[in-house]
Amino acid sequence: MKTLIDLREKKDSGMYEAVQNLYDEPLKIIRLGEQSITPCIGCWNCWLKTPGRCVMKDQMAELYTDYVSSDTVILIMDTAQGFINHQAKAFLDRTIPHYHPYIEIVNGECQHVARYKGYPDMVFYYDREGLSSGEEQVIEDYLYRTAYHFKSKAYRIVKARGFQLHQLESRKAKRQIVPFTSIEPGEKLVIYSGSPRRSGSNSALILGKVVEALGDRVEIRDLKEKGKWEEWAEDFKSDKNIMFFMPLYVHAMPSQVMEFIEKLQPSKGSISFFIQSGFPESSQSHYLEAYFEQLAFRLGRTYVGTAIKGGVEGFQMRPAKAQEKIIEPMVKTIADIVLEGKFNPTNISQLSMPIRFGKAMGILLKLLSKAGLINFFWNQQLKENNAYEKRFDAPYLSLTKDSQ
Ligand SMILES: Cc1cc2nc3c(=O)[nH]c(=O)nc-3n(C[C@H](O)[C@H](O)[C@H](O)COP(=O)(O)O)c2cc1C
Repeated sequence: MKTLIDLREKKDSGMYEAVQNLYDEPLKIIRLGEQSITPCIGCWNCWLKTPGRCVMKDQMAELYTDYVSSDTVILIMDTAQGFINHQAKAFLDRTIPHYHPYIEIVNGECQHVARYKGYPDMVFYYDREGLSSGEEQVIEDYLYRTAYHFKSKAYRIVKARGFQLHQLESRKAKRQIVPFTSIEPGEKLVIYSGSPRRSGSNSALILGKVVEALGDRVEIRDLKEKGKWEEWAEDFKSDKNIMFFMPLYVHAMPSQVMEFIEKLQPSKGSISFFIQSGFPESSQSHYLEAYFEQLAFRLGRTYVGTAIKGGVEGFQMRPAKAQEKIIEPMVKTIADIVLEGKFNPTNISQLSMPIRFGKAMGILLKLLSKAGLINFFWNQQLKENNAYEKRFDAPYLSLTKDSQ
């Protein structure tokens, strides 16, 4: 089965026929654009309580069966502010139930183990209108990377004398094209906290320590407070120094962060970014870093830089001393901007280690994983939730269930 999922806001069935002509079997067409997709809130029930099944009950959940039953999924999406828009991002974030929490090492990077036997080819279409060539590249790189992570082949439909289908080849993110810049030290830093988690947020814990260290030199604005977005987007025009601090969600920002970013207008001042992620290697965050460089340019703001810290998930289970050891350099990195007016390159580089795993580390991790030591973190929680026996469930495709 081949499924076309239209995520665009405006109804426009004009291109369906042209896309249909690229395939020799009829496409199942699903239009999701009218209903907004409920954003993933990082509850991880789909991993730890009801394995494979998302708690959200919306149109997105209704198409999970179609998704995993298809050999090809064509995603037609809108872009906004130089990236895929929040609706398209919410779609990708909500795809994680189809993977296990379990980790495997692939080419020096962590990946989640497949829950299903196979995954559809992912075919992407987005209109180039309003995008710079740099932004178009960042989006394509990001979508390639997402499909790779999701164990799908990636294709892009491009409009050039009719519609053409191209397979996307492996590539690295084009990052660090824009140099880090320094600003006037000692000024207040407004930090937007992007974690959608309702409780137990790593970001909240880290930013709590930032406030302890820097007091009223920082102001934390939690993007879960959606009622304040209009006011904050207005403030953005005059707020001098802004930082976006967020967890990495499917190699980019959580969809709620994108939805807020869509509201921002070009303005004077500085902008910096801090990405913290679950997997240890910072290469996970490079595709988002590449976008943030473009975004700073689009918003006309001085790009102070992007800090990346991996290996943050699970750190709350560590003893207090070990937690402090992880948090302290993160706090220091933010303090560097407030007190020195710039990121310290040595801190940034230390924070981002490892970038990828070397061969020796890769082998060691594989051995630890075989011994069950890496997945212990997940198994323990599955057992606490009485969900361990169901851990291999593949609920949206009952046919593959017995073969897992
Ligand atoms: C939907 C979703 C997608 C994620 N994608 C990634 C990813 O691509 N790479 C990664 O290293 N961590 C990923 N993570 C892990 C989070 O970045 C990590 O758990 C983070 O510390 C959560 O921070 P928070 O508690 O402040 O929300 C993902 C988590 C969720 C819920």
